[in-house]
Amino acid sequence: MFWQKNKQFDTFCHTRTARIVTLLTGHRDTAKKMSGTEMRAAKIVQPGGVEVLQVLKVAKPQPEASDVLVRVRSSALNRADILQRRGKYPAPRGAHPDIPGMEFAGEVEACGSLVSLWKTGDRVMGLIGGGAHAEYLVAHERTLAEIPANLSWEEAAAIPEAFITAHDALWIQAGLRPNQRVLIHAVGSGVGLAAAQLAHAMNALSIGTSRTADKLARARKYGLNSGFEVSGNPTAEDGQRWAASGAFDVILDLVGGPYTNASLHALAPKGCIILIGTMGGTRGELDLGLMLGRRAHMVGTVLRSRPLEEKISVTLSFAREVLPLFARGILRPVIDSEFDLSDIRRAHDRMESNETFGKVILRVAKQ
Ligand SMILES: NC(=O)c1ccc[n+]([C@@H]2O[C@H](COP(=O)([O-])OP(=O)(O)OC[C@H]3O[C@@H](n4cnc5c(N)ncnc54)[C@H](OP(=O)(O)O)[C@@H]3O)[C@@H](O)[C@H]2O)c1
Repeated sequence: MFWQKNKQFDTFCHTRTARIVTLLTGHRDTAKKMSGTEMRAAKIVQPGGVEVLQVLKVAKPQPEASDVLVRVRSSALNRADILQRRGKYPAPRGAHPDIPGMEFAGEVEACGSLVSLWKTGDRVMGLIGGGAHAEYLVAHERTLAEIPANLSWEEAAAIPEAFITAHDALWIQAGLRPNQRVLIHAVGSGVGLAAAQLAHAMNALSIGTSRTADKLARARKYGLNSGFEVSGNPTAEDGQRWAASGAFDVILDLVGGPYTNASLHALAPKGCIILIGTMGGTRGELDLGLMLGRRAHMVGTVLRSRPLEEKISVTLSFAREVLPLFARGILRPVIDSEFDLSDIRRAHDRMESNETFGKVILRVAKQ
């Protein structure tokens, strides 16, 4: 397993780091010649529409002692990138404030002096608070996972945010068990399709909702058992209809707003609603009497702003429990579309269209 890689890389990484330290402490001309100090990145130059995105030359980041410098090959888009572009979701402390991008697949370019898990050339993927829509990023070595050999850069970039979120929510926080029933809202989304596959891999029964009938049909190829098309704001009656053939032990709510109360009506006693997203709004009525009667659990969760130790923990669990399923072909990344970094505006347009099925990939380096 990746986190158990032995110390044989230490010597290599220390040698490499000695070079970086030399580069950082005085021989700047040499540094420029040897590794370059600039990179291309998508920048949000001010809050607004897609026109505020520009691909510019910016300073290349430098790894600290426990960091790895990753040459990003591919990244992917997330709703948080859109919100950040609009000025509604600032990057967390420590992340690049105006280079978006929360996930990546790439190769190790250099290691900090204390790095022991990785060596130059290793294929890695992971989550980061921001800055992945760039040619290089630095990440703590323990937040990286090894890319299974059978996956391309684009396939690997489609995995971290969707599968770590769905795995953490369904398997870890909601404790999904075999033969339980799970309802997944907006199942044609990146996270929704990861959740459908993880439910199937757990031998749970999954039912999805979508505003697009075609997405429900396509999701069945990824393990979804059946689905409900939703039009407008779902009501208590919709919730009862969703549960007509059995109430749900776990409901993965990516929409919020009116979906949450409808979900309560579909929940089994002592069931768990796990709120992941609020695409349908952050406010809505909740029948608290029903919540008491159902002895419902309701959990809200985010990944991006978690402290480093929690990010390390979810990455380790994901690497241990989920990555082997990609290597064996049980789980598959779902790619909607691919764009070059220079086409970042079109990539944002595509995600905002709500027509996507799976992930929007950004090719950062020429393959
Ligand atoms: N908490 C976390 O850690 C975390 C991590 C990752 C993502 N998220 C959140 O999870 C949600 C899904 O992310 P994603 O990247 O998987 O999204 P995505 O791939 O962009 O898919 C979103 C889909 O949701 C549906 N949708 C959009 N607006 C809707 C609305 N108002 N009502 C009902 N359905 C709507 C659309 O499909 P149809 O209308 O065709 O059904 C759309 O294609 C987002 O809110 C995101 O911010 C949270």
